[in-house]
Formats: sequence, C-alpha cells, structure tokens
Amino acid sequence: MIMSRRPRRLRVTDSVRSAVRENNIQADDLIYPLFVVEGDQKKITISSMPGIFKQSIDLILKEIEECTQLGIKAFILFGTPSTKDARATKAYDTNNIVQKATRAIKSKFPDVWLIADICVCSYTDHGHCGILDHGKVLNDESLEVLAKMAVSCSNAGVDTVAPSAMMDNQIQALRTALDKEHLIETSIMSYSAKYFSSFYGPFREAADSAPQQGDRSTYQMDPGNSKEAIVETQIDIDQGADFIMVKPAMSYMDIITKLDAAFDIPLVAYNVSGEYSMIKAAAEKGWIDEKKLVHELLLSFKRAGADLIISYFAKDFLKHQNGFQS
Ligand code: PBG
Repeated sequence: MIMSRRPRRLRVTDSVRSAVRENNIQADDLIYPLFVVEGDQKKITISSMPGIFKQSIDLILKEIEECTQLGIKAFILFGTPSTKDARATKAYDTNNIVQKATRAIKSKFPDVWLIADICVCSYTDHGHCGILDHGKVLNDESLEVLAKMAVSCSNAGVDTVAPSAMMDNQIQALRTALDKEHLIETSIMSYSAKYFSSFYGPFREAADSAPQQGDRSTYQMDPGNSKEAIVETQIDIDQGADFIMVKPAMSYMDIITKLDAAFDIPLVAYNVSGEYSMIKAAAEKGWIDEKKLVHELLLSFKRAGADLIISYFAKDFLKHQNGFQS
C-alpha cells in the first residue's frame, strides 16, 4: 500500500509551516483597551492586571504613541470618572474624562480608530449598567442615558461607540439619537453576545464598576445559552449594529464560530480581563510560556472566526512578535 497522504510534509520547517498557516495575527486585527483617569502624570497599577495601568491623559498620549509605533491603530477607551451619582450624569458631560481624552487623542493622532465603551457602571454610585429602581435595572430609562453618552462621546470625536450595557434595544436607541444629531458616520460596535461572566472580575477593579448590590444576571446573557447569541445578535444587526461581538472570548469560542457562520458583518472577540489575569498569574509562577501561549490564544480567536480581537495582550504581543513566531 502506498502511503500517499502524509500531512507532516507540510510541517517540515518553519518556512513551510508559516507558508501554509491558515490564520495569522497582524497589528490590524488588534484593539487595545485604555483606562483613563483624571490628573497629570498619573499611572495607577491594577493589582489583578499586571502590565495594565489607569493613566492620565498626558500619559495616555505617550502610550498611544508607543502603540502606533508597534502598528496598533485601534483603541477602546474606558473612563474612571471623578464623581458618580445614581443617574450617571457624568457619563454624558462634555468634560467627562473619556470625552476630554478623546479630544486630546484626536487632536494629536487624528488617524487612530477610537472606540468608546458605552455603559454607565463606572458612573453610577450603585455600579449597575443602567438606572436602578428598588434594586431593579430599568431598561427603557437606561436607554436615554446610554444614548446621551454615545452622542456626547461622538461629539468629542470617537469614531465608534460600543454599547456594553446589555439593555434591550440599546442599538436602536443609540442609532436614532446619533442620526438625530447628524452623527451619521459614527459606527456602532455592539457587545451583542455579552455573557454574565466571572471573567470580568479584574476589570471591575480597574473600572471601579462592581455592583454594590445584586449582580448583572438579569441583563447579561446566561452562560448556558448558545442559540440566544444568535437572537441577540440578529436584533442588534436589525437595529443598525456595524460590528458584533462575543464576550468573553476564551470560554465562548463556540459562540464566535456560530456568529461567524450566521452573520457577514465584522465580528469582534473580547479577550477579557480575567482571561488576561489568569495567564499572567500562571506565567508569573513559571507554569506556562506566556509568549507562546498568547500567540496560540490569539490565533485561536481568529481560527474560531473572529475578525478583530480586543486584548490587553495586544501591545506585549506585537512587542515580542518575532519571539512569538519562532
Ligand atoms: C462595562 C464593561 C465591562 C467590561 C467591558 N465593559 C464589565 C462588566 O460588564 O461588568 C469587561 C471587560 C473585561 O473584563 O475585560 N459594562
């Protein structure tokens, strides 16, 4: 018998392997999250996310300069505001930290793709992603605040607004409000399939956004559900989403593949804070090879079907890319 099929022929050298590799990670695929705080020369460590900092606008500008030199062109902004209240009024204040950072970034780097996370959990004193009434998050009242925040961020200069509050009909509310203000070129990146997840723990330390009471299970998706991701995403596309998303990414690769098969608009995978922290912690203990593991991880998101990846690893990955490829 002639043993004609020998797939190992395609694995003989690195040159052959890289020539036949179906997926690759490029700087263009990556979106880097940035945490902005008030002040000057402020660089605050986030204990559960080594290597990631909350920074004042002056240092954020330096950070963006470094990132653009590595080829990163896209950033998603999260703000920790100076004050909070029950109705998140700071979120749509033109002098809020995200709006100020946006103006500063766009005047220095007009070509970067700037995305603003649209959610009020960092802006409410109770830490929920919407307006609260007797322990209940009110959907339609919350839409008004989210829409105002989106218009305010768009007026400040962001290219894209990314609603992550998981309120029903938030895409329609944002699109209607933006269009009314003639902000027709502002695109919407919907966190369309956002699960109720313990993987967000470290982010809540960073954004100071943990709910004081209760949890987010009445608005974020149940981790046991898969078909529901299609339903949620279809609604968002029908209402005008320009990008769709799966979040978290690592535990939800099946959902990435499903949405990629079902929909034809750009699909984003959000490699969230807990996924970052677990890998960092294991690497600190010397239990894994971080550089190789991160390359493998990012490739997995692409292989699963993601077009774009939001990742706290973006900068490190590109910095060490040559090391990663070997
Ligand atoms: C805001 C928001 C969260 C994340 C992104 N936007 C937190 C949450 O929903 O509790 C999580 C990001 C991460 O964990 O990296 N709602």
